[in-house]
Parts: sequence; C-alpha cells; structure tokens
Amino acid sequence: MTRRDGTRRLDASAYEQLVQSVVDYAIYILDPEGNVSSWNPGAQRIKGYAADEIIGQNFSRFYTAEDREAGLPQQVLKRALEEGRFAGEGWRVRRDGTRFWAMIVVDAIREGDRVVGFAKVTRDMTEHREASLAALETERRFRLLVQGVTDYAIFMLDPDGLVTNWNTGAQRIKGYAADEIVGQHFSRFYTPEDREAGTPLKALETAKRTGRFTAEGWRQRKDGSRFWASVVIDAVRDENGELIGLAKVTRDLTERREAELELERSRAALFQSQKMEAVGQLTGGLAHDFNNLLTGITGSLDLMAARLAQGRINELERYITAAQGAASRAATLTHRLLAFSRQQTLEPKAVDANRLVSNMEELIRRTVGPNIAIETVLAAGLWPCFCDPNQLENAILNLSINARDAMPEGGRMTIETANTWIDQVGAIERDVPTGQYIAICVTDNGAGMPPEVVARAFDPFYTTKPVGKGTGLGLSMIYGFARQSGGHVRIYSEVGRGTTVKDLSAAARRR
Ligand SMILES: Nc1ncnc2c1ncn2[C@@H]1O[C@H](COP(=O)(O)OP(=O)(O)O)[C@@H](O)[C@H]1O
Ligand SMILES: [Mg+2]
Repeated sequence: MTRRDGTRRLDASAYEQLVQSVVDYAIYILDPEGNVSSWNPGAQRIKGYAADEIIGQNFSRFYTAEDREAGLPQQVLKRALEEGRFAGEGWRVRRDGTRFWAMIVVDAIREGDRVVGFAKVTRDMTEHREASLAALETERRFRLLVQGVTDYAIFMLDPDGLVTNWNTGAQRIKGYAADEIVGQHFSRFYTPEDREAGTPLKALETAKRTGRFTAEGWRQRKDGSRFWASVVIDAVRDENGELIGLAKVTRDLTERREAELELERSRAALFQSQKMEAVGQLTGGLAHDFNNLLTGITGSLDLMAARLAQGRINELERYITAAQGAASRAATLTHRLLAFSRQQTLEPKAVDANRLVSNMEELIRRTVGPNIAIETVLAAGLWPCFCDPNQLENAILNLSINARDAMPEGGRMTIETANTWIDQVGAIERDVPTGQYIAICVTDNGAGMPPEVVARAFDPFYTTKPVGKGTGLGLSMIYGFARQSGGHVRIYSEVGRGTTVKDLSAAARRR
C-alpha cells in the first residue's frame, strides 16, 4: 500500500465522519438504479427514515405521487448522467407523508467511464421559501399600494436623477404615462426658469447630502400647464449605506393654494366692507362737525367782508386765523377719513398702540358725539405690539361704536393700554403662547350684556340692534383679527353697569 493510498483512505474516513455529523443537509448515495446505498443523520432528520429502513429502497419514494407519475425521478438521474450534475427545487415527501420544499443537487459518481452511482444532497428550504414568499408578497402589496395611490405622485430616481418607476398618481398629476417618462431626467418637471437656475440639481444634491429635500414650488405638467407642488425627495440607501436611488413624492397643492388665496381675498373684502360700515356710522357725526367748522369759516369770512366794507382793515388778522384754524381742522378730518377708508393691504408689523390710539382720539370723539366723555389711559413704556395697524384701528373704532350704541343717553368711555404677561395657566385658557402681550381695553358704563349675549357676541351676524343699525360683524371681525395675529379678545360685562372688551396683541419681538 503506497503512502498515497493511505492518505486517500484517511481522507475518505474523515469525509465519512464529516458527512455523518451534518444534520442540516441530507447527504446520501444512490446506486446507478437509484436505490439508496448510504444515509446520514441529516437525511434521517429531514426525511424521517432511519438508515436501516431506507437503504436498498428506490429514491423515487421521496417524490410526490404526481412527480413520480410524471417520471421526474428518472429524469433527474438522466440529467445528472448527461450533464454530470443536476440541481433543482421542488416538493418532496417525508416518511410521515408531510411535504417539504427541497433544494437538491445530484452529482454522478464516475469511476473511469463507468457511472457507479449518484451523490445526493438535499436541503429543507420550506421555512426559507415561506419567508421569501412572504417578502415577495409584502413587496407586491407595497407595489400595489404605491401604484394605487392617485393623490400623490410617487416615483423613484436613480442617483443621476433619471426616473426609474412611476405610479398612477404621478401619471394623474404630471400627465405622463410610465413608458413616456421612465428613463427621462426629472428636471423636466421643473419650470424653464428653475431649470436654468439649476434648482433640480440642487434639490438632488441636498437629498443626497442630507438624506432629504423638501420644498414647495411651481412644477410643470406634460401639457406645459403649471401646478403648485409640495415635494419631498428622500435618499434611498442599501444596508451598506450605498445610494441606490431617490424616492420622490410630489403633491399637487394648486387647489389648496387657490382656496387659501380665495379666503385671503374674501377676508380682505369683508374687512373693507366692515371698514366702510364704520365710515358710514361716522359720517353722521362728521356732517355735524363739518357744519360747525364751515360755520366758523363762513362766519369769519362774513365778518371780514363787513370790516372791509367799513374800511377797517387793521383788525382782520384774528378772523383770518380763526378761518384758517377751522379749515385746517376740517382738512385733517377729511384726511384721516380718507386714509382710513382707503383699501390697504393687511400687513402685520410692530405697532405703537399708544400712538395709534392718540391719533384716533379725535376721530372717536367725533364718532361718539358730545354726550360721551372719552378718557384715554396710556401706559408708559408700552411694548410695541405685532399686528396690522389698519385692523387695530378698525377694531378700536368698532369697539367705540359699540360703546356709543350701549350709551344712548350718554356716559363715559375709557380706552386703556397696558403691558401684560400671559403665564402657562392663562395661555392654556386662551389658547395662545405664553409671553408678553399688549392689552387694549375699551370700557363703557352703558347697558351691558347678559351672559347669553356675551356668549354669542363674537358670532358673525349676531346683533341685537335694529336692522340698518347693526350688522353683527364688528366683534366677529375683531375676534378674527385677534386670533389671526396670535392674540385674544374677551368681553367682561354686567347688565346695567357696563362693558369692557379686552384685546390682547402679542408683543413684537425685540430686535
Ligand atoms: N359695549 C357693548 N355693550 C353692550 N352690548 C354690546 C357691546 N358691544 C357689543 N355688544 C353686543 O354684541 C352684539 C354684537 O356686536 P357686534 O359684533 O359689534 O355687532 P353689531 O354692533 O353690528 O350689533 C351687539 O349687537 C350687542 O348686543
Ligand atoms: Mg358693532
């Protein structure tokens, strides 16, 4: 016996030991007819037969009845014979009749030209198959889901920005069918201006660098029409962190944006009509005032004419001064009225409420008439508040008109400003952030409101006034304005004693 032979025998027994210790694979040998001639513990574990039960039996019994009928076992051996090896997957049957999904490899064993048998390795892949089927199913469902979404354009880009897939929503929103757009660069969804400015590439770079890019902007449909889009681009990386593409979700916000603009327009229109109503209320009082001023002017002119006729020109000075004074008061009044009724854009900014109230005082005095005494209590060191000054003027004027209406027999009205601080409790109660606020209180000692009127006073069109006198829009506008500018408004009232309306505006942030 040569040394080489000895080595080989040692290898063979080591190999035999190895095979005998494998339990995850069925490893066994068939003779040329397909009868089992060796069996390992893995084969016993997977197929359920002990070695002495199965050795000598034909391997076709591991196949299902259907496969046996179709002659599959013979074909497997034939293929292994012809090609040296056969590999496949399929259902096999255990000793107890249950089935398992097998992955098999059959090798023909040759000695010289002669085939002396087959080495067979079988692995039970049932669990693996179920897991991969489940994964496939999940993926299929996900794909269906994405496909079925019509409100969002959901599609993928490769790292260079070429479209790799396309869903129904994308087709609906952007107008391209999948076969028209897959493979095209996504920059074509942008407007020419944006493309020129390099916006698409910047978006892609941001998504790659930070993982995500979000924006709103105009995008273009296939037919060239534009829509207002909300866009999110997410970088998609594999488990090694390698960029495999970008997921893009686009939503058409055109309708929402139009609704917002429409709301803004109607809000502005309502504000304007409300303002005109206040102006209408003013003119009654103003006509009277103008008459007085005109009387002063014409009176002075008459007196001057009389003096001139008498040749007394040396004492004209004081009549001129009186006429000029009345004329300039009238001019100021018209100015304020015109400034107030002019259509202005709503623009919040830092506003000095004290100055605003002082500037309005004259106008308010004339609006409420001589029977109502007006007092202003303006806090020293008042913080600027952050709101639209025109709206604030409108609010104060409306509160003054309400005060006037509550005091038909006359009375006293106070306009007061103060710095306040809203703590956590107050903030929760009023649904505003904690912090610094400016309070503007308009108080009257008029009729007051019963609780059920207080409860409804902010409702649009709620009024207790006769037709032509009230619209019920004053307080609802004030409420809307306060909420819109992050503030709050509240009524404190007692029947027969009077009312305070307290308007809180957020303090302008110091710069
Ligand atoms: N200062 C006030 N005193 C008494 N009642 C008031 C006062 N302010 C408002 N109200 C009540 O609230 C209602 C709604 O006010 P508002 O919205 O300004 O509409 P309008 O003044 O056109 O009636 C008024 O009709 C009135 O009943
Ligand atoms: Mg009113």
